[in-house]
Amino acid sequence: MNRITTFTVTALLILLMVSCSESRKPWRIGVSQCSEDIWRHKQNGELIIGGYVDNAVELEFLSADDSDERQIEQINHFIEEKVDLLIVAPNSAASLTPVIDKAYDSGIPVILFDRRTNSDKYTAYISADNYAIGNTMGKLIARDMKGKGTLVEITGLKGSSPAKERHRGFADAIAEYPQIRLISSELGDWTEESGSKAMAEVLKHDRDIDCIFGHNDRLALGARNVALRHGLRNIKYYGVDALPVPGGGIEQVQKGVFEATYIYPTQGLEVMRLARKILNGEKYERYNKLHSSVVDKSNADLLLTQHREMERVGNDIKTIHAKVDEYFTQVNLQQKIIIGFIVVLVIIVTLCVLTYRFYIAKVMVNEEVAKEVVSPMASIPSPKTSENDKQAMPVPNTFLDRFRSILQQNLQDADFNVERIGEEMGMSRVQLYRKIKSLTGMTPVELLRKARVARGKQLLESTDRSVSEIAYDVGFTAPSYFAKCFKDEFGISPGEFRGTNK
Ligand code: FRU
Repeated sequence: MNRITTFTVTALLILLMVSCSESRKPWRIGVSQCSEDIWRHKQNGELIIGGYVDNAVELEFLSADDSDERQIEQINHFIEEKVDLLIVAPNSAASLTPVIDKAYDSGIPVILFDRRTNSDKYTAYISADNYAIGNTMGKLIARDMKGKGTLVEITGLKGSSPAKERHRGFADAIAEYPQIRLISSELGDWTEESGSKAMAEVLKHDRDIDCIFGHNDRLALGARNVALRHGLRNIKYYGVDALPVPGGGIEQVQKGVFEATYIYPTQGLEVMRLARKILNGEKYERYNKLHSSVVDKSNADLLLTQHREMERVGNDIKTIHAKVDEYFTQVNLQQKIIIGFIVVLVIIVTLCVLTYRFYIAKVMVNEEVAKEVVSPMASIPSPKTSENDKQAMPVPNTFLDRFRSILQQNLQDADFNVERIGEEMGMSRVQLYRKIKSLTGMTPVELLRKARVARGKQLLESTDRSVSEIAYDVGFTAPSYFAKCFKDEFGISPGEFRGTNK
Protein backbone atom coordinates (compact mmCIF):
# COMPACT_ATOMS: atom_id res chain seq x y z
CA MET A 1 0.00 0.00 0.00
CA ASN A 2 1.43 3.38 -0.89
CA ARG A 3 1.34 6.26 1.50
CA ILE A 4 -1.77 7.89 0.04
CA THR A 5 -3.80 4.70 0.26
CA THR A 6 -2.61 4.13 3.84
CA PHE A 7 -3.56 7.69 4.73
CA THR A 8 -6.98 7.38 3.14
CA VAL A 9 -7.76 4.07 4.80
CA THR A 10 -6.64 5.46 8.19
CA ALA A 11 -8.72 8.62 7.72
CA LEU A 12 -11.80 6.59 6.79
CA LEU A 13 -11.28 4.27 9.77
CA ILE A 14 -10.99 7.24 12.13
CA LEU A 15 -14.15 8.72 10.65
CA LEU A 16 -15.94 5.42 11.04
CA MET A 17 -14.80 5.15 14.64
CA VAL A 18 -15.94 8.72 15.34
CA SER A 19 -19.29 8.02 13.71
CA CYS A 20 -19.70 4.86 15.76
CA SER A 21 -18.58 6.62 18.92
CA GLU A 22 -22.04 6.55 20.44
CA SER A 23 -19.99 4.25 22.66
CA ARG A 24 -21.31 0.99 24.06
CA LYS A 25 -24.52 -0.82 23.24
CA PRO A 26 -27.39 0.05 25.61
CA TRP A 27 -27.83 -2.14 28.68
CA ARG A 28 -30.90 -4.35 28.21
CA ILE A 29 -32.75 -4.71 31.50
CA GLY A 30 -35.71 -7.05 31.93
CA VAL A 31 -38.28 -6.03 34.57
CA SER A 32 -40.51 -8.87 35.73
CA GLN A 33 -43.44 -7.52 37.76
CA CYS A 34 -45.60 -10.01 39.62
CA SER A 35 -48.75 -7.87 39.49
CA GLU A 36 -50.49 -5.17 37.54
CA ASP A 37 -51.69 -2.44 39.89
CA ILE A 38 -51.11 1.22 40.75
CA TRP A 39 -48.17 0.42 43.03
CA ARG A 40 -46.45 -1.37 40.12
CA HIS A 41 -47.37 1.40 37.65
CA LYS A 42 -45.88 4.02 39.91
CA GLN A 43 -42.73 1.99 40.24
CA ASN A 44 -42.44 1.31 36.49
CA GLY A 45 -42.69 5.06 35.85
CA GLU A 46 -39.86 5.66 38.31
CA LEU A 47 -37.72 2.93 36.73
CA ILE A 48 -38.14 4.65 33.35
CA ILE A 49 -37.07 8.00 34.81
CA GLY A 50 -34.17 6.22 36.57
CA GLY A 51 -33.10 4.95 33.15
CA TYR A 52 -32.81 8.53 31.86
CA VAL A 53 -29.77 9.08 34.07
CA ASP A 54 -27.87 6.78 31.77
CA ASN A 55 -29.34 7.17 28.32
CA ALA A 56 -27.98 3.86 27.17
CA VAL A 57 -30.54 1.69 28.97
CA GLU A 58 -33.35 -0.29 27.40
CA LEU A 59 -36.03 -1.48 29.80
CA GLU A 60 -38.44 -4.28 28.91
CA PHE A 61 -41.40 -4.62 31.28
CA LEU A 62 -43.45 -7.79 31.64
CA SER A 63 -46.25 -8.25 34.16
CA ALA A 64 -47.38 -11.67 35.35
CA ASP A 65 -50.74 -10.42 36.63
CA ASP A 66 -50.43 -12.41 39.88
CA SER A 67 -49.78 -15.71 38.06
CA ASP A 68 -46.77 -17.82 39.02
CA GLU A 69 -46.90 -19.74 35.71
CA ARG A 70 -46.95 -16.58 33.62
CA GLN A 71 -44.07 -15.09 35.57
CA ILE A 72 -41.99 -18.27 35.10
CA GLU A 73 -42.60 -18.05 31.33
CA GLN A 74 -41.70 -14.37 31.27
CA ILE A 75 -38.46 -14.90 33.18
CA ASN A 76 -37.57 -17.74 30.81
CA HIS A 77 -38.10 -15.26 27.98
CA PHE A 78 -35.64 -12.84 29.59
CA ILE A 79 -33.13 -15.68 30.02
CA GLU A 80 -33.43 -16.58 26.32
CA GLU A 81 -33.08 -12.91 25.41
CA LYS A 82 -29.88 -12.90 27.48
CA VAL A 83 -30.79 -9.58 29.09
CA ASP A 84 -27.91 -7.79 30.80
CA LEU A 85 -29.77 -7.66 34.12
CA LEU A 86 -33.05 -8.91 35.57
CA ILE A 87 -35.13 -6.91 38.04
CA VAL A 88 -37.78 -9.17 39.52
CA ALA A 89 -40.52 -9.12 42.15
CA PRO A 90 -41.36 -12.83 42.47
CA ASN A 91 -45.09 -13.46 42.84
CA SER A 92 -44.74 -16.31 45.32
CA ALA A 93 -41.38 -17.37 46.67
CA ALA A 94 -41.38 -21.17 46.29
CA SER A 95 -42.75 -21.37 42.73
CA LEU A 96 -40.47 -18.68 41.35
CA THR A 97 -37.25 -19.80 43.05
CA PRO A 98 -36.10 -22.36 40.41
CA VAL A 99 -36.46 -20.04 37.39
CA ILE A 100 -34.80 -17.10 39.17
CA ASP A 101 -31.97 -19.43 40.25
CA LYS A 102 -31.70 -20.47 36.59
CA ALA A 103 -31.41 -16.85 35.46
CA TYR A 104 -28.74 -16.22 38.08
CA ASP A 105 -26.85 -19.42 37.16
CA SER A 106 -26.91 -18.40 33.49
CA GLY A 107 -24.83 -15.37 34.44
CA ILE A 108 -27.59 -12.72 34.46
CA PRO A 109 -27.28 -10.41 37.47
CA VAL A 110 -30.57 -10.55 39.40
CA ILE A 111 -32.04 -7.78 41.54
CA LEU A 112 -34.90 -8.97 43.74
CA PHE A 113 -37.07 -6.11 44.86
CA ASP A 114 -39.93 -6.00 47.33
CA ARG A 115 -40.33 -9.80 47.31
CA ARG A 116 -37.79 -12.59 47.81
CA THR A 117 -37.24 -16.17 46.68
CA ASN A 118 -36.31 -19.08 48.96
CA SER A 119 -32.74 -19.16 47.68
CA ASP A 120 -29.74 -16.93 47.99
CA LYS A 121 -29.01 -17.04 44.27
CA TYR A 122 -29.46 -13.35 43.54
CA THR A 123 -27.12 -10.41 43.11
CA ALA A 124 -28.89 -7.89 45.30
CA TYR A 125 -32.14 -7.38 47.19
CA ILE A 126 -33.84 -4.04 47.66
CA SER A 127 -36.93 -3.50 49.74
CA ALA A 128 -38.41 -1.93 52.82
CA ASP A 129 -38.32 -4.16 55.89
CA ASN A 130 -41.63 -6.02 55.76
CA TYR A 131 -41.22 -7.51 59.25
CA ALA A 132 -40.76 -3.98 60.64
CA ILE A 133 -43.82 -2.76 58.71
CA GLY A 134 -46.05 -5.50 60.20
CA ASN A 135 -44.56 -4.99 63.64
CA THR A 136 -44.97 -1.20 63.62
CA MET A 137 -48.57 -1.44 62.42
CA GLY A 138 -49.30 -4.10 65.09
CA LYS A 139 -47.98 -1.84 67.85
CA LEU A 140 -49.78 1.20 66.47
CA ILE A 141 -53.12 -0.66 66.26
CA ALA A 142 -52.68 -2.13 69.76
CA ARG A 143 -52.00 1.37 71.09
CA ASP A 144 -55.10 2.75 69.29
CA MET A 145 -57.12 -0.13 70.84
CA LYS A 146 -55.69 0.77 74.23
CA GLY A 147 -54.50 -2.79 74.58
CA LYS A 148 -57.81 -4.62 74.29
CA GLY A 149 -60.49 -5.56 71.79
CA THR A 150 -61.02 -7.66 68.66
CA LEU A 151 -58.92 -7.64 65.57
CA VAL A 152 -58.87 -9.18 62.06
CA GLU A 153 -55.76 -9.51 59.88
CA ILE A 154 -56.14 -9.96 56.13
CA THR A 155 -52.93 -11.22 54.63
CA GLY A 156 -51.28 -10.82 51.26
CA LEU A 157 -50.76 -13.72 48.83
CA LYS A 158 -49.88 -16.94 50.65
CA GLY A 159 -46.26 -17.81 49.99
CA SER A 160 -45.21 -14.30 48.98
CA SER A 161 -42.42 -13.04 51.19
CA PRO A 162 -43.96 -9.66 52.21
CA ALA A 163 -47.12 -11.45 53.39
CA LYS A 164 -45.06 -13.88 55.50
CA GLU A 165 -42.87 -11.14 56.95
CA ARG A 166 -45.67 -8.63 57.62
CA HIS A 167 -47.64 -11.38 59.34
CA ARG A 168 -44.70 -12.36 61.52
CA GLY A 169 -44.01 -8.76 62.54
CA PHE A 170 -47.69 -8.09 63.23
CA ALA A 171 -48.17 -11.30 65.23
CA ASP A 172 -45.08 -10.55 67.35
CA ALA A 173 -46.42 -7.08 68.16
CA ILE A 174 -49.94 -8.26 69.06
CA ALA A 175 -48.60 -11.12 71.18
CA GLU A 176 -47.57 -8.54 73.74
CA TYR A 177 -51.20 -7.56 74.31
CA PRO A 178 -53.02 -10.47 75.93
CA GLN A 179 -56.35 -8.62 75.95
CA ILE A 180 -56.40 -8.21 72.23
CA ARG A 181 -58.14 -11.11 70.49
CA LEU A 182 -57.01 -11.83 66.96
CA ILE A 183 -60.29 -13.21 65.57
CA SER A 184 -58.76 -14.37 62.33
CA SER A 185 -55.76 -14.12 60.00
CA GLU A 186 -57.75 -14.41 56.80
CA LEU A 187 -56.03 -15.17 53.53
CA GLY A 188 -56.03 -12.59 50.73
CA ASP A 189 -53.88 -12.27 47.60
CA TRP A 190 -53.11 -8.50 47.58
CA THR A 191 -56.21 -7.66 45.50
CA GLU A 192 -59.25 -5.68 46.72
CA GLU A 193 -61.60 -8.52 45.76
CA SER A 194 -59.68 -10.94 47.93
CA GLY A 195 -60.01 -8.45 50.83
CA SER A 196 -63.79 -8.46 50.32
CA LYS A 197 -63.92 -12.25 50.16
CA ALA A 198 -61.84 -12.59 53.30
CA MET A 199 -64.13 -10.20 55.18
CA ALA A 200 -67.22 -12.08 54.04
CA GLU A 201 -65.68 -15.27 55.50
CA VAL A 202 -64.97 -13.59 58.83
CA LEU A 203 -68.46 -12.15 59.05
CA LYS A 204 -69.88 -15.66 58.76
CA HIS A 205 -68.80 -16.29 62.35
CA ASP A 206 -67.96 -12.94 63.93
CA ARG A 207 -69.40 -9.45 63.72
CA ASP A 208 -67.83 -7.99 66.82
CA ILE A 209 -64.74 -6.44 65.20
CA ASP A 210 -62.91 -3.34 66.39
CA CYS A 211 -60.05 -3.12 63.92
CA ILE A 212 -58.93 -4.58 60.61
CA PHE A 213 -55.32 -4.70 59.45
CA GLY A 214 -54.93 -5.36 55.73
CA HIS A 215 -51.43 -6.27 54.51
CA ASN A 216 -52.06 -3.61 51.91
CA ASP A 217 -54.52 -0.75 51.45
CA ARG A 218 -56.48 -2.57 48.75
CA LEU A 219 -57.18 -5.51 51.07
CA ALA A 220 -58.37 -3.14 53.82
CA LEU A 221 -60.61 -1.26 51.35
CA GLY A 222 -62.15 -4.50 50.06
CA ALA A 223 -62.88 -5.60 53.63
CA ARG A 224 -64.40 -2.22 54.44
CA ASN A 225 -66.78 -2.37 51.47
CA VAL A 226 -68.19 -5.69 52.72
CA ALA A 227 -68.38 -4.51 56.34
CA LEU A 228 -70.33 -1.41 55.29
CA ARG A 229 -72.67 -3.57 53.28
CA HIS A 230 -73.28 -5.54 56.49
CA GLY A 231 -74.04 -2.33 58.34
CA LEU A 232 -70.83 -2.37 60.37
CA ARG A 233 -69.76 1.28 60.60
CA ASN A 234 -67.49 1.48 63.63
CA ILE A 235 -64.57 -0.65 62.54
CA LYS A 236 -61.17 1.05 62.26
CA TYR A 237 -59.06 0.23 59.21
CA TYR A 238 -55.32 0.04 58.75
CA GLY A 239 -53.34 -0.81 55.64
CA VAL A 240 -49.94 -0.67 53.98
CA ASP A 241 -48.66 1.04 50.79
CA ALA A 242 -49.83 4.65 51.29
CA LEU A 243 -49.90 5.42 47.59
CA PRO A 244 -50.17 9.15 47.03
CA VAL A 245 -52.56 8.77 44.09
CA PRO A 246 -56.32 9.44 43.96
CA GLY A 247 -58.04 6.63 45.87
CA GLY A 248 -54.67 5.57 47.33
CA GLY A 249 -53.88 5.02 51.04
CA ILE A 250 -52.82 8.58 51.87
CA GLU A 251 -56.07 9.98 50.53
CA GLN A 252 -58.01 7.37 52.57
CA VAL A 253 -56.22 8.53 55.72
CA GLN A 254 -56.87 12.17 54.81
CA LYS A 255 -60.57 11.43 54.36
CA GLY A 256 -60.72 9.49 57.65
CA VAL A 257 -61.53 6.19 55.90
CA PHE A 258 -58.32 4.64 57.29
CA GLU A 259 -56.77 5.38 60.66
CA ALA A 260 -53.29 4.82 59.33
CA THR A 261 -51.23 3.18 56.64
CA TYR A 262 -47.52 2.59 56.10
CA ILE A 263 -45.54 3.82 53.10
CA TYR A 264 -44.31 0.84 51.14
CA PRO A 265 -41.76 2.63 48.98
CA THR A 266 -41.70 1.99 45.23
CA GLN A 267 -38.31 3.73 44.84
CA GLY A 268 -37.76 2.94 41.16
CA LEU A 269 -34.93 5.49 41.02
CA GLU A 270 -33.08 3.63 43.78
CA VAL A 271 -33.60 0.30 42.05
CA MET A 272 -32.16 1.72 38.82
CA ARG A 273 -29.22 3.23 40.69
CA LEU A 274 -28.45 -0.21 42.11
CA ALA A 275 -28.79 -1.76 38.62
CA ARG A 276 -26.35 0.78 37.17
CA LYS A 277 -23.79 0.08 39.87
CA ILE A 278 -23.98 -3.66 39.19
CA LEU A 279 -23.76 -3.23 35.42
CA ASN A 280 -20.88 -0.76 35.65
CA GLY A 281 -18.96 -3.08 37.97
CA GLU A 282 -19.09 -0.55 40.81
CA LYS A 283 -19.29 -1.37 44.50
CA TYR A 284 -22.84 -2.08 45.70
CA GLU A 285 -24.65 -3.38 48.77
CA ARG A 286 -26.20 -6.83 48.47
CA TYR A 287 -28.99 -6.02 50.91
CA ASN A 288 -30.54 -2.60 50.41
CA LYS A 289 -33.10 -1.46 52.93
CA LEU A 290 -35.54 1.25 51.88
CA HIS A 291 -36.72 3.52 54.66
CA SER A 292 -40.28 4.69 55.14
CA SER A 293 -42.83 5.54 57.78
CA VAL A 294 -46.38 5.49 59.08
CA VAL A 295 -48.96 7.83 57.55
CA ASP A 296 -51.73 9.08 59.82
CA LYS A 297 -53.88 12.18 60.06
CA SER A 298 -50.89 14.21 61.29
CA ASN A 299 -48.80 13.93 58.12
CA ALA A 300 -51.17 12.88 55.32
CA ASP A 301 -51.67 16.47 54.00
CA LEU A 302 -47.97 17.18 53.98
CA LEU A 303 -47.15 13.94 52.20
CA LEU A 304 -49.73 14.56 49.49
CA THR A 305 -48.44 18.09 48.90
CA GLN A 306 -44.90 16.76 48.64
CA HIS A 307 -46.03 14.06 46.28
CA ARG A 308 -47.76 16.59 43.98
CA GLU A 309 -44.53 18.58 43.85
CA MET A 310 -42.57 15.41 43.05
CA GLU A 311 -45.07 14.51 40.38
CA ARG A 312 -44.66 17.94 38.79
CA VAL A 313 -40.87 17.56 38.82
CA GLY A 314 -41.25 14.05 37.37
CA ASN A 315 -43.41 15.38 34.54
CA ASP A 316 -40.91 18.16 33.85
CA ILE A 317 -38.13 15.58 33.71
CA LYS A 318 -40.13 13.55 31.21
CA THR A 319 -40.70 16.64 29.03
CA ILE A 320 -37.04 17.64 29.20
CA HIS A 321 -36.02 14.09 28.39
CA ALA A 322 -38.31 14.00 25.36
CA LYS A 323 -36.79 17.29 24.15
CA VAL A 324 -33.23 16.13 24.75
CA ASP A 325 -34.06 12.91 22.91
CA GLU A 326 -35.35 14.88 19.93
CA TYR A 327 -32.28 17.11 20.02
CA PHE A 328 -29.92 14.13 20.04
CA THR A 329 -31.78 12.51 17.17
CA GLN A 330 -31.20 15.68 15.13
CA VAL A 331 -27.56 15.97 16.20
CA ASN A 332 -26.99 12.33 15.27
CA LEU A 333 -28.51 12.85 11.85
CA GLN A 334 -26.42 15.96 11.27
CA GLN A 335 -23.31 14.14 12.47
CA LYS A 336 -23.99 11.34 10.00
CA ILE A 337 -24.49 13.82 7.14
CA ILE A 338 -21.24 15.62 8.00
CA ILE A 339 -19.33 12.35 8.25
CA GLY A 340 -20.80 11.19 4.94
CA PHE A 341 -19.77 14.49 3.37
CA ILE A 342 -16.23 14.22 4.76
CA VAL A 343 -15.95 10.62 3.54
CA VAL A 344 -17.01 11.68 0.02
CA LEU A 345 -14.59 14.62 0.16
CA VAL A 346 -11.72 12.38 1.27
CA ILE A 347 -12.51 9.96 -1.55
CA ILE A 348 -12.63 12.77 -4.12
CA VAL A 349 -9.36 14.29 -2.91
CA THR A 350 -7.72 10.86 -2.90
CA LEU A 351 -8.93 10.17 -6.42
CA CYS A 352 -7.64 13.57 -7.59
CA VAL A 353 -4.24 12.95 -6.01
CA LEU A 354 -4.07 9.44 -7.45
CA THR A 355 -5.09 10.69 -10.91
CA TYR A 356 -2.53 13.46 -10.78
CA ARG A 357 0.18 11.06 -9.70
CA PHE A 358 -0.84 8.64 -12.41
CA TYR A 359 -0.74 11.43 -14.98
CA ILE A 360 2.71 12.57 -13.85
CA ALA A 361 3.95 8.98 -13.85
CA LYS A 362 2.61 8.48 -17.36
CA VAL A 363 4.22 11.67 -18.62
CA MET A 364 7.51 10.58 -17.10
CA VAL A 365 7.25 7.14 -18.61
CA ASN A 366 6.42 8.70 -21.96
CA GLU A 367 9.44 10.93 -21.76
CA GLU A 368 11.61 7.99 -20.81
CA VAL A 369 10.27 5.95 -23.68
CA ALA A 370 10.65 8.90 -26.07
CA LYS A 371 14.23 9.29 -24.96
CA GLU A 372 14.83 5.61 -25.46
CA VAL A 373 13.45 5.81 -28.94
CA VAL A 374 15.51 8.85 -29.85
CA SER A 375 18.79 8.44 -28.02
CA PRO A 376 20.19 5.51 -29.96
CA MET A 377 20.06 7.75 -33.04
CA ALA A 378 22.93 9.71 -31.64
CA SER A 379 25.13 6.67 -31.51
CA ILE A 380 24.80 5.89 -35.19
CA PRO A 381 28.31 6.58 -36.47
CA SER A 382 27.56 8.05 -39.88
CA PRO A 383 24.63 9.51 -41.75
CA LYS A 384 25.37 7.22 -44.67
CA THR A 385 24.77 3.65 -43.75
CA SER A 386 26.21 0.98 -46.00
CA GLU A 387 24.31 -2.11 -47.09
CA ASN A 388 26.64 -4.19 -44.91
CA ASP A 389 25.96 -2.01 -41.90
CA LYS A 390 22.24 -2.33 -42.46
CA GLN A 391 22.53 -6.10 -42.54
CA ALA A 392 24.71 -6.10 -39.45
CA MET A 393 22.09 -4.29 -37.34
CA PRO A 394 20.29 -6.40 -34.73
CA VAL A 395 16.88 -7.67 -35.74
CA PRO A 396 14.26 -5.47 -33.95
CA ASN A 397 11.71 -7.38 -31.95
CA THR A 398 9.35 -4.94 -30.23
CA PHE A 399 7.20 -2.37 -31.97
CA LEU A 400 9.33 0.47 -30.64
CA ASP A 401 12.54 -1.34 -31.64
CA ARG A 402 11.21 -1.60 -35.18
CA PHE A 403 10.14 2.02 -35.17
CA ARG A 404 13.53 3.13 -33.88
CA SER A 405 15.34 0.98 -36.36
CA ILE A 406 13.36 2.41 -39.29
CA LEU A 407 14.10 5.96 -38.10
CA GLN A 408 17.82 5.13 -37.77
CA GLN A 409 18.03 3.79 -41.26
CA ASN A 410 16.27 6.72 -42.92
CA LEU A 411 17.19 9.78 -40.90
CA GLN A 412 19.39 11.35 -43.53
CA ASP A 413 16.62 11.12 -46.11
CA ALA A 414 14.87 14.52 -46.27
CA ASP A 415 11.90 12.92 -48.02
CA PHE A 416 11.46 10.38 -45.25
CA ASN A 417 8.15 11.23 -43.58
CA VAL A 418 5.33 9.76 -41.55
CA GLU A 419 3.66 8.10 -44.54
CA ARG A 420 6.90 6.31 -45.30
CA ILE A 421 7.33 5.21 -41.70
CA GLY A 422 3.77 3.86 -41.82
CA GLU A 423 4.48 1.98 -45.01
CA GLU A 424 7.63 0.49 -43.53
CA MET A 425 5.82 -0.47 -40.32
CA GLY A 426 2.92 -1.92 -42.34
CA MET A 427 0.24 0.38 -40.88
CA SER A 428 -1.77 3.43 -41.81
CA ARG A 429 -0.64 6.90 -40.88
CA VAL A 430 -3.48 7.18 -38.39
CA GLN A 431 -2.78 3.80 -36.79
CA LEU A 432 0.88 4.70 -36.51
CA TYR A 433 0.06 8.05 -34.98
CA ARG A 434 -2.25 6.50 -32.36
CA LYS A 435 0.15 3.75 -31.40
CA ILE A 436 3.21 5.96 -31.13
CA LYS A 437 1.30 8.64 -29.26
CA SER A 438 -0.07 6.14 -26.73
CA LEU A 439 3.33 4.55 -26.19
CA THR A 440 5.48 7.66 -26.03
CA GLY A 441 3.14 10.59 -25.53
CA MET A 442 4.69 12.15 -28.66
CA THR A 443 3.72 12.12 -32.32
CA PRO A 444 5.80 10.28 -34.95
CA VAL A 445 6.69 13.62 -36.52
CA GLU A 446 7.98 14.98 -33.21
CA LEU A 447 10.01 11.83 -32.66
CA LEU A 448 11.45 11.99 -36.18
CA ARG A 449 12.45 15.61 -35.64
CA LYS A 450 13.90 14.86 -32.21
CA ALA A 451 15.90 12.00 -33.67
CA ARG A 452 17.28 14.18 -36.48
CA VAL A 453 18.32 16.91 -34.07
CA ALA A 454 19.89 14.36 -31.70
CA ARG A 455 21.90 12.89 -34.58
CA GLY A 456 22.89 16.39 -35.64
CA LYS A 457 24.20 17.11 -32.17
CA GLN A 458 26.21 13.93 -32.21
CA LEU A 459 27.69 14.85 -35.59
CA LEU A 460 28.53 18.37 -34.37
CA GLU A 461 30.56 16.78 -31.61
CA SER A 462 32.22 14.06 -33.56
CA THR A 463 32.86 15.53 -37.04
CA ASP A 464 34.26 18.73 -38.60
CA ARG A 465 31.37 19.08 -41.03
CA SER A 466 29.74 22.47 -41.11
CA VAL A 467 26.40 23.13 -39.43
CA SER A 468 24.72 23.40 -42.85
CA GLU A 469 26.21 20.13 -44.07
CA ILE A 470 25.12 18.39 -40.89
CA ALA A 471 21.63 19.87 -41.25
CA TYR A 472 21.35 18.19 -44.69
CA ASP A 473 23.02 15.02 -43.38
CA VAL A 474 20.25 14.53 -40.81
CA GLY A 475 17.46 15.10 -43.28
CA PHE A 476 16.69 18.84 -42.86
CA THR A 477 16.06 20.71 -46.13
CA ALA A 478 16.93 24.06 -44.60
CA PRO A 479 19.83 24.67 -42.18
CA SER A 480 17.90 27.53 -40.57
CA TYR A 481 15.09 25.14 -39.62
CA PHE A 482 17.68 22.69 -38.25
CA ALA A 483 19.10 25.56 -36.18
CA LYS A 484 15.67 26.46 -34.84
CA CYS A 485 14.77 22.88 -33.93
CA PHE A 486 18.22 22.39 -32.36
CA LYS A 487 17.76 25.46 -30.20
CA ASP A 488 14.24 24.38 -29.20
CA GLU A 489 15.60 21.02 -28.12
CA PHE A 490 18.85 22.00 -26.40
CA GLY A 491 18.38 25.69 -25.64
CA ILE A 492 21.47 26.61 -27.62
CA SER A 493 22.08 27.14 -31.37
CA PRO A 494 24.16 24.57 -33.31
CA GLY A 495 26.86 27.20 -33.97
CA GLU A 496 27.18 28.05 -30.29
CA PHE A 497 27.16 24.37 -29.43
CA ARG A 498 29.99 23.69 -31.83
CA GLY A 499 31.87 26.67 -30.31
CA THR A 500 31.55 25.34 -26.79
CA ASN A 501 32.72 21.87 -27.94
CA LYS A 502 35.89 23.00 -29.70
C1 FRU B 1 -48.23 -4.29 44.77
C2 FRU B 1 -48.36 -4.97 46.07
C3 FRU B 1 -48.46 -4.00 47.18
C4 FRU B 1 -47.89 -4.73 48.31
C5 FRU B 1 -46.75 -5.39 47.63
C6 FRU B 1 -46.28 -6.62 48.29
O1 FRU B 1 -48.23 -5.20 43.74
O2 FRU B 1 -49.43 -5.84 46.07
O3 FRU B 1 -49.77 -3.57 47.38
O4 FRU B 1 -47.54 -3.94 49.38
O5 FRU B 1 -47.19 -5.70 46.35
O6 FRU B 1 -45.32 -7.24 47.52
